[in-house]
Amino acid sequence: MTIDPDNMTGNLTGVLVTGVNGQLGKELKRHFDSGAGNVKALLSVFPQLFYTDIEELDICDSDAVKQFVNANKIGLIINCAAYTAVDKAEDEVDKAQKINGEAPGILADAASESGALLIHISTDYVFNGKSNIPYTERDQTSPHSVYGRTKLAGEYAIASSGCSYVILRTSWLYSGFGTNFVKTILRLASERDTLNVVFDQTGTPTNAADLASVIVTIGSQIKERVSAIYNFSNEGVCSWYDFATEIVNYSGLKCGIMPVTSDMFPSKALRPVYSVLNKSKIKKEFGIEIRHWRTALIDCLKNMDAQK
Ligand SMILES: NC(=O)c1ccc[n+]([C@@H]2O[C@H](COP(=O)([O-])OP(=O)(O)OC[C@H]3O[C@@H](n4cnc5c(N)ncnc54)[C@H](OP(=O)(O)O)[C@@H]3O)[C@@H](O)[C@H]2O)c1
Repeated sequence: MTIDPDNMTGNLTGVLVTGVNGQLGKELKRHFDSGAGNVKALLSVFPQLFYTDIEELDICDSDAVKQFVNANKIGLIINCAAYTAVDKAEDEVDKAQKINGEAPGILADAASESGALLIHISTDYVFNGKSNIPYTERDQTSPHSVYGRTKLAGEYAIASSGCSYVILRTSWLYSGFGTNFVKTILRLASERDTLNVVFDQTGTPTNAADLASVIVTIGSQIKERVSAIYNFSNEGVCSWYDFATEIVNYSGLKCGIMPVTSDMFPSKALRPVYSVLNKSKIKKEFGIEIRHWRTALIDCLKNMDAQK
């Protein structure tokens, strides 16, 4: 696929990024600022970038979203906004449902009216984790947590809106920005001699910088109406224990990582035991090469060192 030089959305010239203060939003902004990869190609079609978070644009406010999209001639909406507090969501069901379940439908309706493309981020938590082979986009969803159910509701809201959309399901997202597993392990490992980390949950980490690059690639390649779901994470498979061990080893921290089972860490939300995503579809359709999770992790840790 290549970019339609006249752009399929007529005279729409803007890209709206929501949730820009989150870890993915910040990585996406950094990627746009860098001009790397397919940024130039995307900006040749949509030269104006609009970065928003809840203060500038609450994605739950239907009138505000429609007004923003129309006033700024938005041709591409990239939704990085979400309610991501997985355990808290078990108590804040309404709030999680509004942001994850309903607001994507508001963005999709605005996209549908204006002719914009919506790229939305979803999660491995839409699956129940009972598989032992990587999940494809066609596999049955069956979320076991409020977070997973609300994210799946968001997918349905988009699919039923009639807009042109791409939903990217990702897993175990981390970045130098925000709060995430990598930063938590770095902090705890610098404070303690040993850390217990679960080894009975298996998945694949995703460097948010890699996801940001893929979002731009997809945004730059689509020229026709689309309604599709794709999986994206880094390559390979690991447990949280393996992930933590790699973080600590690379960082040279003197902290022992101990493998333990999940029952040592009772949590409100049930997490998928297995959530590896099959990426064959995205690799084939967009010609994307995906880095192994270890390579992507080391890159992130190096960048964090450089930022110190
Ligand atoms: N983190 C993971 O491990 C993971 C894994 C799989 C998929 N995902 C998905 O990946 C996407 C990006 O996640 P992330 O980790 O970057 O999330 P994040 O760091 O929590 O960022 C989300 C951003 O959205 C903002 N936001 C919340 N409600 C909003 C509203 N009503 N209007 C506008 N902005 C609002 C948040 O603001 P506040 O902070 O003020 O609430 C925050 O700045 C999400 O769709 C998430 O579900 C994440």
